[in-house]
Amino acid sequence: MLSIAIDGPVGAGKSTIADEVCRRLGILHLDTGAMYRAVGLAVTASGVDPQDEAAVTALCETGGARVDVRYENGAQVTLVNGRDVTGLIRSQEAGTAASAVSRYAAVRRMLVARQRELAREQPMLLDGRDIGTVVLPDASLKIYLTASPEARAMRRLKQLEEKGEHPDFDAILSEVNARDHQDMTRAVDPLRKAADAVEVDSSDLNFEETVQAILRLVEAVNG
Ligand code: DC
Repeated sequence: MLSIAIDGPVGAGKSTIADEVCRRLGILHLDTGAMYRAVGLAVTASGVDPQDEAAVTALCETGGARVDVRYENGAQVTLVNGRDVTGLIRSQEAGTAASAVSRYAAVRRMLVARQRELAREQPMLLDGRDIGTVVLPDASLKIYLTASPEARAMRRLKQLEEKGEHPDFDAILSEVNARDHQDMTRAVDPLRKAADAVEVDSSDLNFEETVQAILRLVEAVNG
């Protein structure tokens, strides 16, 4: 069964690149960050403090943050406790809560189990932080998609400018660096490149060039 793992830091473009690679390969894309965001949302909606590990763990263990994923026309729909939260999880608040709850072993255990099940059922590409190292150690192909902090901050700046905002580059760059630090130094399943992952640095590549670089790697393992 074909399984592709893409890990990398925030702002490397994992999700949009992964979506396009999957569309061209005709396989499903599992955005695992969406699942952490869904837990973050369930936690805040239940009135639980995302910083309170014991309370978050209790909520997960009593079935109060059941995350599931289904596909509609190839697109991921993310559910929590049976409710479609695909749109809601894109908020800044859900991202912040996700970043807190993704540090907890109980949350990771619950989501990793579901991610492995999904990847067993069909050919898939999973993107996240720990796919090559923890979720799918035997993936057919592991990619570490990265770009310099400056390139990632610049892309974020452009996205915000397109929305009519006037953000400050230095502020975005320090956010990118802070998120990297948090993702790479957390105790449980930190972001790191798997020993057998291929690094794709997209700092000087555009969208299409990055997609092509990944498709070439897939072709090499998939024949
Ligand atoms: O990629 P994202 O911003 O949607 O991820 C949301 C949060 O979840 C982010 O803080 C990193 C975390 N995450 C994780 O710990 N492991 C994953 N496999 C995917 C995301």
